[in-house]
Amino acid sequence: MCRGLIKSAPALSITPLSRSSTTSEETAPPLLELEFETDNHIVETKRLGKEFGALVAVANVSIKVQPNTIHAIIGPNGAGKTTFFNLLSGNLPPSQGRVFYKGRDITHLPLHRTAHLGIGRSFQITNIFPSLTVLENIRLACQALGRGNFRFMRSHKYFKAFEERAWEVIHQVMLEKEALLPARALSHGGQRKLELGIILAADPEVLLLDEPTAGMAAEQVPELINLIREVQQTGNKTVMLVEHNMNVVMSISDYITVMHQGQVLAEGTPAEIAANKVVQGAYLGQLYTDLKVN
Ligand SMILES: Nc1ncnc2c1ncn2[C@@H]1O[C@H](COP(=O)(O)OP(=O)(O)OP(=O)(O)O)[C@@H](O)[C@H]1O
Ligand SMILES: [Mg+2]
Repeated sequence: MCRGLIKSAPALSITPLSRSSTTSEETAPPLLELEFETDNHIVETKRLGKEFGALVAVANVSIKVQPNTIHAIIGPNGAGKTTFFNLLSGNLPPSQGRVFYKGRDITHLPLHRTAHLGIGRSFQITNIFPSLTVLENIRLACQALGRGNFRFMRSHKYFKAFEERAWEVIHQVMLEKEALLPARALSHGGQRKLELGIILAADPEVLLLDEPTAGMAAEQVPELINLIREVQQTGNKTVMLVEHNMNVVMSISDYITVMHQGQVLAEGTPAEIAANKVVQGAYLGQLYTDLKVN
């Protein structure tokens, strides 16, 4: 790993970090913080932590995520999974630790900046406009999050480009038949597909999916899971997934991190996690007696 402060712009494209303004800093050449990993993990955290007052929600979480994989984060209610995603995506600032994305330190970047860099996230609570159609929801996401951005919104040419991109995404998430229906008319499974489409609109490299199957009828779950796998494989994307359905987790994941009381309890392949006695005792054994591992 390389780490340090350098005093002149390197050949790499690096955004200057804002600094507290003092007279000497105003006259000095801009300081750029250059901190990056040399290995090829797409997401990495180092001793990441978050406290809400006296409550420690996430503590010392260090993980490495391989590109083009599905990496699940599991753990009981209140383990800190959603908070961890909030820290990764910049939705919340961490109390301690670091987040790296493709080697770049993104610890203090807000949500809209991480989105533009290629991290797309869903929220545990549905994040769609119910009275707009499926097409309108996805087109808005293309306009809001796409690299083209708002300055082109008045141009008919760019509106058409957003519309075309929205249809591409609609095909990707298999909502063609529902495209002109208001989002509120969709089944729960359809709404979850729409949420996936809203994330895909920005063409992210990393998708953070927080309980994508929550509330869905059991028979709709396999379709969504197959869709997530297909999106990941065909688009060479990395998916980080918080999920309580252990059969889904075990069948879809390449790697699993188990969180418990804000910390990493264990990590490994699905088979390793299923066989892990500590995880069995703390979590899986009590909750998932019918666990199947593919
Ligand atoms: N904004 C907040 N302010 C105060 N406490 C919070 C906040 N967000 C989360 N917490 C607390 O932090 C802990 C971790 O919550 P978090 O939502 O991250 O857990 P989780 O693993 O996602 O749980 P679940 O599986 O139920 O979604 C919980 O005790 C929760 O009450
Ligand atoms: Mg949660």
